[in-house]
Amino acid sequence: MQDKIYDVSPEWSRRALLDDAGYRAKYEASVKDPDAFWAEEAKRIHWFKQPTRIKNTNFGPGTVAIRWFEDGTTNVAYNCVDRHLDTRGDQVAIIWEGDDPSESKSITYRELHDEVCRMANVMRNRGVERGDRVTIYMPMIPEAAYAMLACARLGAVHSVVFGGFSPDSLAGRIEDAQSKFVITADEGLRGGRKVPLKVNVDAALDRIGSKLVDHVLVVRRTGAAVNMEPGRDVYYDEAAAMVSGDCPVEEMNAEDPLFILYTSGSTGKPKGVMHTTGGYLVYTSLTHQYVFDYHDGDVYWCTADVGWVTGHSYLLYGPLANGATTLMFEGVPTYPSISRFWEVIDKHNVSIFYTAPTAIRSLMQAGEDPVKKTSRRSLRILGSVGEPINPEAWEWYYRVVGDGRCPIVDTWWQTETGGILITPLPGATKLKPGSATRPFFGVKPQVVDADGKVLEGKAEGNLVIADSWPGQMRTVYGDHERFVQTYFSTYPGKYFTGDGCRRDEDGYYWITGRVDDVLNVSGHRMGTAEVESALVAHPKVSEAAVVGYPHDIKGQGIYAYVTLMAGEEPSEELRKELVAWVRREIGPIASPDLIQFAPGLPKTRSGKIMRRILRKIAEDEAGNLGDTSTLADPTVVDDLVTNRQNKR
Ligand code: PRX
Repeated sequence: MQDKIYDVSPEWSRRALLDDAGYRAKYEASVKDPDAFWAEEAKRIHWFKQPTRIKNTNFGPGTVAIRWFEDGTTNVAYNCVDRHLDTRGDQVAIIWEGDDPSESKSITYRELHDEVCRMANVMRNRGVERGDRVTIYMPMIPEAAYAMLACARLGAVHSVVFGGFSPDSLAGRIEDAQSKFVITADEGLRGGRKVPLKVNVDAALDRIGSKLVDHVLVVRRTGAAVNMEPGRDVYYDEAAAMVSGDCPVEEMNAEDPLFILYTSGSTGKPKGVMHTTGGYLVYTSLTHQYVFDYHDGDVYWCTADVGWVTGHSYLLYGPLANGATTLMFEGVPTYPSISRFWEVIDKHNVSIFYTAPTAIRSLMQAGEDPVKKTSRRSLRILGSVGEPINPEAWEWYYRVVGDGRCPIVDTWWQTETGGILITPLPGATKLKPGSATRPFFGVKPQVVDADGKVLEGKAEGNLVIADSWPGQMRTVYGDHERFVQTYFSTYPGKYFTGDGCRRDEDGYYWITGRVDDVLNVSGHRMGTAEVESALVAHPKVSEAAVVGYPHDIKGQGIYAYVTLMAGEEPSEELRKELVAWVRREIGPIASPDLIQFAPGLPKTRSGKIMRRILRKIAEDEAGNLGDTSTLADPTVVDDLVTNRQNKR
């Protein structure tokens, strides 16, 4: 079947930063001589000391070491704030739209400077120094941005933990990062509901014990009365009133850490993905400009939470490095009405809108009317990120939301990659619904088979990246060996993405999803092992195996097979109890959609669970189980198939 193709419109060819020939030339230059290309692109940020060594990277086998611009010095907060004061001090840096539509405010670059300096001074007065790790557990309020930038200003390393994670998950991340300083809010507000952030922090710190964290900074969001531990906890507004709005910036080496962000893998606990300073900033700034065809005067809105990498790279750092006006939204797409996204676009004249397929799929269900009753005339570009976008959702996004006028940039990347690696460029790339299309400058994707053989031309296999780009993660915090093992051992000498992909006759890439034990639920990454270990921690559970299954809105749903302890009986009540248990252990995003009680799990004679079979059953493909002859007890499969849970 011929793929549908959308040509670049004449209007877009006129206004875009690059046309197709421009893309090809720049791409060729970038892969032919990375040193020359990135030396030139590095000039887009301000360096205290210009780098002279550009690329020094090694993907192994053996040593894996990634360094970019290694003798340069700079500061990310200086680039995102101070540098703009002369030219755009009065321009709005952040538009904040509250959960309640009556609440919004604009923060200029000058105001941002004052706020970031105050936050930095408050931290500095409490002993935060360069290299220290600071945990940020915040709702989507401007103070979250101030906190991240304040860390960058001081050279402290932030670790933002998504506000939807449980006290347990938060505690694990605080401990792994050994962070002594925590920034939070009294409560968060989402869709009219309150999120007990400070209560969760208290519970997390109880779990950790009193030794580690010595300061908790609490931003008042709802004004709820919360427990304040004398000597440890302080309200931000009170502390900020006592410090100056000026604070010196630390001169950081390009390879000094900027942040740690925990993300799920196929095994073990979430990993602390570590990103550094210079390369990350050059890469996020360059991609933000070209992928979103950003011009001065645009109002740019990325709906991601700051707790995820998209919120780091494309809500905050990339846009602010470019002096953009970036919109931060506290709420959810469906509150107070299902038109909320489109109303916000009209209210603030948003020209670039970047969201996740799961949001599109859920809004699609309500039909066109809630969209069509808004204008959306300010929109020029639509973006998609986080999971494969099915062609049906793509078409709806294009036709209904964008009125057929706005190119969609389907951007493929990962927490580990720091920025976008495969994407269309508006004005340069013909679009195919469902394809992330072509590599960004400097990115060398390859499709390999299971043995690592590089496949040429039209092909399907696993996606690897053959060489480094500046925004790449540098290590797993505190565990470089795990970094090497996870990303560079499957295909030695190459970065393994964990994704499967197809490349078509035009050289376009189609990401088919994870090929490891990582689930993508509503664009949120979740390790099957994490959900399994939460389940087996329940006293009535003896064994659990978790797989994904296709879900109309979430992309993937969580399907859990649970074997109970001897003497325990399956019941609806227990099913509910287990769902609530996992929510409590990890957070609501990890709630199993379906739980099947199973007397036994399919195992090989050596005791290894055969997930392939469990996946097929969950996907309702029991007719296609393949070879089950290596199972220790093939009869368990019959019971599993008979008692399969229905999708809803
Ligand atoms: O499977 C890919 C999917 O999301 C994974 C990365 O998840 P995370 O680190 O949480 O980062 C999400 C935001 C960058 C990838 O391995 N993914 C991300 N973007 C796309 C995608 N799959 C298909 N198409 C995309 N555009």
